[in-house]
Amino acid sequence: MTETHRLFLALLSISLYLLWVAVLLFKQRKASNLDVSEHATLVVYASQTGTAEKVARAKAAALADMETTSVVSMSDLKLDTLSHVSKAIFVVSTYGEGEPPDAGRKFSSILKKAYSQSVLPLSHLSFEVVGLGDRQYTSFCAFAVSLFDGLNQLGGKAASPLMTLDSSKGEHLSLLDNLPSKNTETSLVLTVNKRTCLNTVNQTLASGGRGLYALSLGIQKAQTATSWVDDSLWEAGDILEVHIPASQQNTNAEDNVGRETATRSYTIASVTSEGDIKLVVRQVVKEDGTLGLGSGLLTHSSKLADSISGTIRKNESAYISDTQCPLILIAAGSGIAGVRAQLAKRASLQNAGPVWVFYGERHAEFDDVLDITLSPFHQAACLHKKSTIFSRDENGGYVQHLLQQYSKQVNAFIGSEGHVYVCGDFTGMGKGVDEILKSILGEGRYEQLHEQGRYHRDLY
Ligand SMILES: Cc1cc2nc3c(=O)[nH]c(=O)nc-3n(C[C@H](O)[C@H](O)[C@H](O)COP(=O)(O)OP(=O)(O)OC[C@H]3O[C@@H](n4cnc5c(N)ncnc54)[C@H](O)[C@@H]3O)c2cc1C
Ligand SMILES: Cc1cc2nc3c(=O)[nH]c(=O)nc-3n(C[C@H](O)[C@H](O)[C@H](O)COP(=O)(O)O)c2cc1C
Repeated sequence: MTETHRLFLALLSISLYLLWVAVLLFKQRKASNLDVSEHATLVVYASQTGTAEKVARAKAAALADMETTSVVSMSDLKLDTLSHVSKAIFVVSTYGEGEPPDAGRKFSSILKKAYSQSVLPLSHLSFEVVGLGDRQYTSFCAFAVSLFDGLNQLGGKAASPLMTLDSSKGEHLSLLDNLPSKNTETSLVLTVNKRTCLNTVNQTLASGGRGLYALSLGIQKAQTATSWVDDSLWEAGDILEVHIPASQQNTNAEDNVGRETATRSYTIASVTSEGDIKLVVRQVVKEDGTLGLGSGLLTHSSKLADSISGTIRKNESAYISDTQCPLILIAAGSGIAGVRAQLAKRASLQNAGPVWVFYGERHAEFDDVLDITLSPFHQAACLHKKSTIFSRDENGGYVQHLLQQYSKQVNAFIGSEGHVYVCGDFTGMGKGVDEILKSILGEGRYEQLHEQGRYHRDLY
């Protein structure tokens, strides 16, 4: 190699290195600034199932005539971003047992870390916090409370006292008045086309209210405030908010005290190409023998061909856009709805990444509903494995025990790119699954799963 060649190679290496550093700096700068102008009011939302996001967008719209606003998810927020603006409004929900929603976990620990360093990086910031929660939980709006305190402790000045709203009572609805029409959800008129009881409900089980029903709802009308909608109505992970008719509410007046909204949420179990909106609904039987408001309407009082109205609620935290990565789908009971939708999405694609389904129910004899629910996808090339467990059978257990049993394989399957989606009851399943995942993956990889948006939870 001649001297000129060596010189040329050295210059090329230095140029490539400088280019690489420039790209990294640009990426970092973009991430820290989030393209937010320093004169803009930053509106930050931390939302698990979309309500706080909607309120945040409505707040931004209400300010639009007077100020420049920029709406961001808390999952993209860094402390540095807040040092670029003088005014921020936070709209946050609370999840789990007084915890931040998944999108708020990272920022919550950033705040705690900053506070332990005894600096006041937010002394220039004027802020407002709106918390959404439900008073039925003991830690009502706990994340909003800790966020408000944390911002104060870091030197921020509260422009108004903390506002906490019970969304189950519709206390947030007046804030939505300014929601621009392009954000308005799609309203639907649906027809009950088919309803099947999936499990074998014997006398003993029926008394505990264990009927699990599959519903197929045809779409009569789909409309936003400004236009008709005919395709791409929903994504795997989205939720149908069923509106309970007033006549139904009167028969259950006690349960409905203070619930002006009278809606119930159900995870959509199908994808748009299937045509109908499919749901899997657990029939709730109360102590006095009457049925729950929403589940009663869907599994009992509505008849075939009846109309039901609802709204599609976007649930972006449950979207899995990478269709090539390994995917673990975990559910118990009615959570099979979300599993079905995620599998349906992959089954329709060529070269989709492998899917491993974990499902738990009570009795294999009565409740083994996995195969029938997933039957259209049995031949799907992406379906790697299905594992079931039944808690009330001999040597039975919960779905988290199943994960533990396969811990090595689960660890390898998730690897560094796999996604995990969990759907169903929070207390009975979601909490246990979360603990087992942490122990299988170890603290570091578990945190990465959260931070890289590879852990999707639709728990209720
Ligand atoms: C994001 C989200 C997604 C959901 N997806 C689904 C789904 O796919 N399928 C599904 O079946 N449900 C799902 N749910 C739960 C659903 O929204 C209702 O809460 C459930 O159907 C009970 O409502 P209800 O109106 O029938 O009972 P209500 O009239 O609200 O409740 C009557 C009484 O029963 C109690 N109760 C409520 N739920 C239960 C229960 N599960 N078991 C025992 N007692 C109960 C209540 O404390 C109350 O005292 C989801 C909830 C959320 C937030
Ligand atoms: C699994 C689960 C756990 C919840 N935990 C709490 C809680 O601890 N405290 C509270 O005030 N609200 C709690 N909520 C109620 C939500 O905060 C409330 O429904 C909120 O409007 C959801 O907003 P989002 O859709 O933006 O996430 C919980 C809701 C769910 C589904």
